[in-house]
Amino acid sequence: MKHDASKHLVYLNGEMLPPDQARISVFDTAVTLGDTMTESTRTFGHKPFKLERHIDRLYKSLKVSRIDTGLSPVEMSEITLQVLETNLPHVPPEEDVWITHNVSRGMGAAAADPTLQRSPATVIIHTTPMILSDWASFYTEGCHAVTPFSRAIPTQSLDARIKHRSRLAYTLAEAEVKLVDPQAQSVILDTDGNVTENKGGNFFIYADGRLKTPHARGALAGVSRETVLELAADLSIPTQITDFQPYDIYTADEAFFTSTPYCIMPATKFNGLPVGDGAVGPITHRLLQAWSDMVGLDIVAQAQRHVSIT
Ligand SMILES: Cc1ncc(COP(=O)(O)O)c(C=O)c1O
Repeated sequence: MKHDASKHLVYLNGEMLPPDQARISVFDTAVTLGDTMTESTRTFGHKPFKLERHIDRLYKSLKVSRIDTGLSPVEMSEITLQVLETNLPHVPPEEDVWITHNVSRGMGAAAADPTLQRSPATVIIHTTPMILSDWASFYTEGCHAVTPFSRAIPTQSLDARIKHRSRLAYTLAEAEVKLVDPQAQSVILDTDGNVTENKGGNFFIYADGRLKTPHARGALAGVSRETVLELAADLSIPTQITDFQPYDIYTADEAFFTSTPYCIMPATKFNGLPVGDGAVGPITHRLLQAWSDMVGLDIVAQAQRHVSIT
């Protein structure tokens, strides 16, 4: 069975449409202001993972950005599950999907006040094939984590806990690290030199017998970050939420990123130096295994299968 993305219907403002008919206006604030709130959830074995945590975060982003969808979180969850159910018959049994929410303020008024609306909010929910081939080799080799020269937008200016589509800062940071190594993954620092996050993931180190991750005040409170902290507690691995700097990554035993698609992405090199002994470490392996056991699916094998497909 081939995974045909063109068969996945898209929910757009109450309608289910084929992807080529799911269109928004050029005057939608998603385009004119870039004020789209977003979520990305994935399935494991066709079951959504922690959908309620993603919907909860979406509604926090919507509240802070003052966007009202007219839908309750329960209604949003129900519609999401309907979209998934509609599209799952097109997904091969061994494959999974992203479930994406994009919500903008709606049709903007060309007026002095950017918050004036001429329509209800625009609500888009779609599913797409989850292609993991780009990350597959990192599970065994580890990736090269690199600090870009651009710093994170201070959270006093734009709270990093809002999950939105205004991604220019993240994209530029990623472009900068690709100048160093085309395979590099960014570790973005704040204006005080503390580690924050990556363009689409959180960051952890294992050092001094503890798994450490930065505070969520300067980084998105990732659902995968939360999951790793839960798994670590189950495995009796001590954890600490703390500020740390590049020095701590250079001298750590292990490092990895976390994000919805790949779950845990080991980093074995940091700014050209090996992290620990330069191999994917035992704590990272244990956490990946525990995550696979929890969802009943071999996360690494699924990604590796994608390499042979694509
Ligand atoms: C900036 C940023 N940080 C962290 C994450 C990781 O969050 P999650 O684990 O919920 O996918 C994301 C996810 O897209 C993100 O965009």
